[in-house]
Amino acid sequence: MEHNISKNILITGGAGFIGSHVVRRFVSEYENYQVFNLDALTYAGNLENLKDIEDADNYTFIKGDITDTDFVNKLFSKHHFDGVIHLAAESHVDRSITDPLSFVRTNVFGTVNLLNASLGLFRNNPGFVFYHISTDEVYGSLGSHGFFKESTAYAPNSPYSASKASSDHFVRAYGETYGLPFVISNCSNNYGPNQFPEKLVPLFINNIIQKKPLPVYGDGNYTRDWLFVKDHARAIDLVFHQGKKGETYNIGGFNEWKNIELTQLLCRLMDKKLDRQASTSAKLISFVKDRPGHDLRYAIDASKINKELGWEPSVTFEEGLELTIEWYFDNKEWLDHVTSGDYLEYYKKQYQA
Ligand code: NAD
Ligand code: TYD
Repeated sequence: MEHNISKNILITGGAGFIGSHVVRRFVSEYENYQVFNLDALTYAGNLENLKDIEDADNYTFIKGDITDTDFVNKLFSKHHFDGVIHLAAESHVDRSITDPLSFVRTNVFGTVNLLNASLGLFRNNPGFVFYHISTDEVYGSLGSHGFFKESTAYAPNSPYSASKASSDHFVRAYGETYGLPFVISNCSNNYGPNQFPEKLVPLFINNIIQKKPLPVYGDGNYTRDWLFVKDHARAIDLVFHQGKKGETYNIGGFNEWKNIELTQLLCRLMDKKLDRQASTSAKLISFVKDRPGHDLRYAIDASKINKELGWEPSVTFEEGLELTIEWYFDNKEWLDHVTSGDYLEYYKKQYQA
């Protein structure tokens, strides 16, 4: 897809964590694009994430729910999008364990609504592409060796990953059955500015600031591959513009950490930042009941996107974590807003605080 032609691009879930970085990137890099951000503003969606670009001429926010079929059809008929970048989702594994149906509703039904609405568009527009943003969790769990490749069989273990796997399958099926031009990418764990503090990194940053326990699930020997969110947004830009239609790209940070080691690193960086004595924050570590169905290890082989599109992460983990910590300190108001109200109820239920 060429950058210098004017296009209507729909980004769903653009008020969320990753979505807001993608929206910002597209609005600021591509003046010829009209960027539409469709978001229901659930607990995870926050327009404060986009304050700096909300008045841009090439940006429009639309509040709406991807599970509302009539609304989605009307929106697509009105704007004739040239491309859809689909990030809207229920995204938190722990919430999927207590409320799987809301994951089926948004992640499966909502995605199929968008696919159906896209069918009316691509037949008159050969450049149209539906880009589905997905997760490495669809591949299930690795043992201590090996990597997820694009050819790895799907074996999701949580309601979240099962819903994402299902939506990936629907996207592929629409390509096979109706000829819908699509790309999919499956990315590892993201961290960075604007992440809702239910996920490990921002939750622990917030708890360290407040001297609250750091609830490490099980023995903490679970391994994740971590990627800075802006590197993911850059990868999404590349795949959208240069990815081969009908293909999947794995995106990862080449950066595996056991949860307990990551927590210790975070504690060290936070002690430094807060001018606390070494090991102050590590004393907050508390091993708690394990997550049911907890996947042991995720690790991505990102050699395809590296070789074909020249993408690689731009920051080391330590640099990325320092930038993230800096952001949470500079944005205390953001943190206060998202950790009041519903968040407190969720936290109480999840961690019995
Ligand atoms: P997030 O929870 O921060 O944001 C999700 C956004 O979707 C929110 O703005 C929310 O309001 C919106 N949304 C939810 N339901 C909606 C609905 N029915 N209609 C319209 N909007 C709705 O999620 P995130 O972490 O930014 O993840 C974005 C996407 O990337 C998801 O599809 C997720 O599966 C995928 N992903 C996330 C990670 C990660 O580490 N966070 C890694 C790989 C892939
Ligand atoms: P999370 O940030 O929820 O992402 P995901 O489940 O999508 O990988 O969790 C990252 C890892 O951290 C995962 O192995 C679960 C673990 N974890 C904890 O040990 N304690 C917590 O409070 C949370 C939220 C996660």
